[in-house]
Amino acid sequence: MALIETRELSKVYTLSSKKSVTALNNVTMSIEEGEIFGILGPNGSGKTTCLKLLLGIIFPTEGEISIMGQNQYSVVTKKNIGFLPENPYYYDYLTGPEILKFYGKLFDMPPGIIRERTDSLLELVNLNNAKNLSLKHYSKGMLERIGLAVSLINDPKILILDEPTTGLDPIGCKETRDLLKKLHDSGKTILLSSHFLSEVERVCSRIVIFHKGNLLTTGTLESLLEEYKAENLEDLFVKAIRKFDSETGQTEEDAINLQSSV
Ligand SMILES: Nc1ncnc2c1ncn2[C@@H]1O[C@H](COP(=O)(O)OP(=O)(O)OP(=O)(O)O)[C@@H](O)[C@H]1O
Ligand SMILES: [Mg+2]
Repeated sequence: MALIETRELSKVYTLSSKKSVTALNNVTMSIEEGEIFGILGPNGSGKTTCLKLLLGIIFPTEGEISIMGQNQYSVVTKKNIGFLPENPYYYDYLTGPEILKFYGKLFDMPPGIIRERTDSLLELVNLNNAKNLSLKHYSKGMLERIGLAVSLINDPKILILDEPTTGLDPIGCKETRDLLKKLHDSGKTILLSSHFLSEVERVCSRIVIFHKGNLLTTGTLESLLEEYKAENLEDLFVKAIRKFDSETGQTEEDAINLQSSV
């Protein structure tokens, strides 16, 4: 059985009595243990919606999710997932160790274990020399790294990262990439979303491409390049999207469905 599975998963956001947005449409996919799996897609294609559904933060309109054989709301599932949101917000006046302690307490971890993990995580994300600095003085790269440390506080089996390299400079991107590889080597399954194709290309074992809430294609990069006769990921991305648009004759505006009022 796959570690994470979605079956015919859909999410429709209701904007008003007449307007709704289909953010995710009938998505069936599976992620195996030990993968670094990348969700790719343009802005508004449903990546964050999909991750939030997996985390049980929002509720599906239709479809089912299984994570480690349980549904997305089970306590066991939650204990085994670490999450780095798209735009993480942390208390500005706390230091790195204080933030980690705060999240460790939320997981009901014993103080001794929190201290141990805080030390090892600060070392892992290279923030050991900034222990006394409050987050309001952090650079973007440092914030991203403390976010990663927070997502790892409970030593989760599964790491879900929403756009982990957005806003980082090339060195920050490389550091994050190296860190993800290290975490993968230590046995974590990683699910990340991104529209930075080169980042995805460098770390992911398998990818899925979303567009307007639809799953266009999924597989290893090599198999997809061959299938779409594409030269690289960018070429593949464009070809997959154009194929979908020409087959469905869809336009941007179609994503917003005008529903007739009852
Ligand atoms: N809370 C919400 N209420 C209404 N519509 C929403 C909500 N969240 C997302 N949407 C809409 O759902 C669609 C998918 O959004 P989502 O944030 O999942 O995309 P994304 O692929 O993560 O985009 P980005 O790359 O910009 O982060 C978009 O059309 C968006 O406007
Ligand atoms: Mg998003």
